[in-house]
Order: sequence, then C-alpha cells, then structure tokens
Amino acid sequence: MGRKIILDCDPGHDDAIAIIMAGLSDDIELLGVTTVAGNSYLENTTRNALIITELAGIDVEVYPGAAKPLVRDQIVAHDIHGYSGLEGADLKEPTKKPSKEDAVHFMAKMIKENENVTIVATGPLTNVALFAKMYPQLIGKVREIVIMGGGIAFGNVTPAAEFNIYADPEAADIVFKLDVPKTLAPLDLTHQAYIQKDDVEKIRQFGSDILNTIADLLEFFMKTYKEVFGIDGAPLHDPTTIAYLIEPDMFEWEDYYIEVELKGKSTYGATVTDIWKVTKKKPNFRVLTKIDRGEFIKLLLKLMGKLKK
Ligand code: BDR
Ligand code: CA
Repeated sequence: MGRKIILDCDPGHDDAIAIIMAGLSDDIELLGVTTVAGNSYLENTTRNALIITELAGIDVEVYPGAAKPLVRDQIVAHDIHGYSGLEGADLKEPTKKPSKEDAVHFMAKMIKENENVTIVATGPLTNVALFAKMYPQLIGKVREIVIMGGGIAFGNVTPAAEFNIYADPEAADIVFKLDVPKTLAPLDLTHQAYIQKDDVEKIRQFGSDILNTIADLLEFFMKTYKEVFGIDGAPLHDPTTIAYLIEPDMFEWEDYYIEVELKGKSTYGATVTDIWKVTKKKPNFRVLTKIDRGEFIKLLLKLMGKLKK
C-alpha cells in the first residue's frame, strides 16, 4: 500500500492534475479529497473535484470544507481558472454527491484512525488551520504537511504574495507555526515544473476521450498564463506536491524558517524566508528548491498513460 494522504484542494486546473496523479499512483493511498474555497467558490471547487474524480475513475469521496477565509475578504482566481474554476473543456455534470461529512471532521477521523497520514494542501490553508485549532490533540499524529504555496523571491497575486497564502494569510500563519514536519513547494519551485504545448500533444496522442478532456483543460490553463503573465508554458504548481511524495529524488531542498506577513501594506500574505539564518530560529519548513522538469513530465505522462483506452 502507498503513502496515506488527504488531498485538500481548490480545483482549479493544476489541482485537478494533482488529484489525478494522486488517484492513479500506486505509491499513494488517497484517503479522501477535501475541498476549500480558493480558485473559485466552495460550491465550484467541490463540484470540480467530483467531476475530476469521476472523469478519471478515481473511487474516492469528496468532503467540502471552508467556504470563506478565516479573517480577510474572499478572493478567487477566475482570471486563471475561469468562472467555474475549471473552464476549458466540455465536462459532464457529476453523478456523485459530495459527502455529508465536512472536510475538518473527515481529517480528524482519518488522523485518529490511521498512523502516518500526510496532509497535502494545494489551496488556501483554511481547512488545515481549522483542523489544527479544533483538534490540537491530533495534530502531533500527522506525518507531514506538504503545501503548495508562497514564494521566496516573488508573488503572483501581489509582487510579494502567492495566491494560496494571500487568499487566507491568517490560516497560513496558524499552519506555518505548527510543530509538525512541513514541506513547501513555493512558486520558485513550481515555475520550474511548467508544461508546454508538446507535452500536452503527447497526452492527446494517447488517443482517449478522457485524456483529450485533460488536454483541453491544460490548454486553457496555458492560455490564461500567457494572457495574465505573458509566459509560454503553465507552471503545474499543485502536482509538484504529489511528485515529491512519489519520487523525492527528482527534487533538491533546503531547510528554512518562514513567517507569514499579516500586517504589511504591500506585503500582506508574503512568506518571509530566512535564507541566511539571520533570526537563528529553527527552520520550520523543508523548502523544495529544484525539480528535474524532465523527470516530472515523465511521471506525469506515465500516470496519465493509465487513462488511455
Ligand atoms: C496556486 O494558486 C492556484 O491558482 C493554483 O491552483 C495553485 O494552487 C498557485 O499560486
Ligand atoms: Ca490550487
């Protein structure tokens, strides 16, 4: 059996790919998908998680979580992911319903019942922060929290802040302070894991309807990255967390102390990283710094290949 994970996400095109990779890998046991408001409203991210698990034939329940950030006003990323949060393909309405159990209670139940559960968070950290606050007695049982979020050198919503952290900085602050092994995939890393036209072409060449739908979604994502940021090739941010759990050897990392800025006028939501260890504070993160893009795309294609006819 593979590594037990709960995938807490806000699909979202790159979250969708992360769900598929986690659901199809033999090295991962996907206990459940929990959803949070982020790229779109909770109703949409939950619906999108159901659509994707059904499309890829992944037999897993979807548990809806927080509809709003803890303190700040809600923001969404419709400029990147479209109004539904997952535009660009002709998607079938899901037949499955979301679970009646909510994300935070599901996390607590899984962590109580199982040893060694890893939480992978690829959206705003609202659910994880609520879990930590509501179940402080369980947090020490978590094996690792692997987060896509933050930026060391740059942001993507403001010059200083990355979307997942900026969408709920107060939640991120709670999670960053937890005494649990934590790994971070920041923008500096995820921008190395970009997908290009010819990679998407290879997905199409498998010749299945499911993979054509996935290719349509990736093309939409590449189009919006070109429009919004002017870059060719869209960073597959969230799937890097899953790749790290499957093949850590494709990464390099450093241990750093990181704090979330909660007050700054132009730096609200920034992940302030002590690269030179000037604070002398104990590092609270393993920060992924480099990824072998060739190996990452190879893994992506290997897992996607499981969906060919
Ligand atoms: C993060 O923000 C979202 O738009 C993506 O899904 C990813 O989790 C990148 O900043
Ligand atoms: Ca996401």
